[in-house]
Amino acid sequence: MNRGIPTKTHKRMWYQVGVLLVLLKNFVAPSQKSALEEARSLTAPVAEATSGGDLEGSEFWDQHDELLQKARREWGRRYPELYEYTDQFADQFLDEKLVHAIANREKQLLASLFEPVVPGVYRFQLFTPEFCDLLQQELKHHEESGIPQRRPNGMNRFGAILSDLGFAEIMDDMMNLYLIPISRHLFADYVGPNDLVETYPFTVKYKPGQDVKLDPHSDAATVTVNVCLLEQDKDAKVLYFADDREPAIASKAKQFVALSNPGEALIHLGQLRHGIAPIEQERHQLVIWMFGEHDYVRIAKYEPDEVRQHKVLYDLFWKRGVHQEL
Ligand SMILES: [Fe+2]
Repeated sequence: MNRGIPTKTHKRMWYQVGVLLVLLKNFVAPSQKSALEEARSLTAPVAEATSGGDLEGSEFWDQHDELLQKARREWGRRYPELYEYTDQFADQFLDEKLVHAIANREKQLLASLFEPVVPGVYRFQLFTPEFCDLLQQELKHHEESGIPQRRPNGMNRFGAILSDLGFAEIMDDMMNLYLIPISRHLFADYVGPNDLVETYPFTVKYKPGQDVKLDPHSDAATVTVNVCLLEQDKDAKVLYFADDREPAIASKAKQFVALSNPGEALIHLGQLRHGIAPIEQERHQLVIWMFGEHDYVRIAKYEPDEVRQHKVLYDLFWKRGVHQEL
């Protein structure tokens, strides 16, 4: 008998013991992928349509929504200060004059901050360049996670839905604290007390070889705010407005507008048609759509009596500084 060399029976026995141990281990602590690993292993639908793509791949996104959220929590944030409205946020990331005008209820100062660029469109400084820089770094951080991201809207294929990435609360705060008073001030004929309740914030990217233009369209929003995130050449005017409806609420001819400095924003009614002519330079924009409850988009003008009534309520905001009571 050779005691040193395992016989076939020994080998079979050790193999069976091995199988039993693996089964036992999986029974006690089943091997499981983390949400992040699982999300990374998904094959997400590729965005293809350049119009009407809102529901593209919606089954996939609905099915995996919970997993993707869990994976993002696991991945974490790089700049947590971007996600929460605080005094520090206002000091560091918002235009100083705007914050001062709203905080001190200086109506005249607020009015002076908006430059009418074409009929129905106003330009103003909303965020600081630092905010734009950090936001872009944060978006890169999310991209590096390998977690699939859904296209931002039905026309743009590149960019991100900010509420998916945890920015819902800060954007709602921005609307309630700043963008509602601004909209009530600029568009009193169209925006009443209950017309801006919800936000849909997203970013879009235009780049040679990817999306290079945007056909004329209206937004699914009562009011739209469009912020420049990446500095542009001063004379590169690609963003245009043209109202081809009857009756038009603004000019019918295409009017080009510059939006070149990080943090600078345009604000307009969502129904005012606009587009982007073919770009030569990469553009990154943050867009905030605002509308009523249950996605209600108001496009009708209020009657003069209603506008007067709204103005009385709006003035209370300036006297009391309590927007929620309006
Ligand atoms: Fe748009």
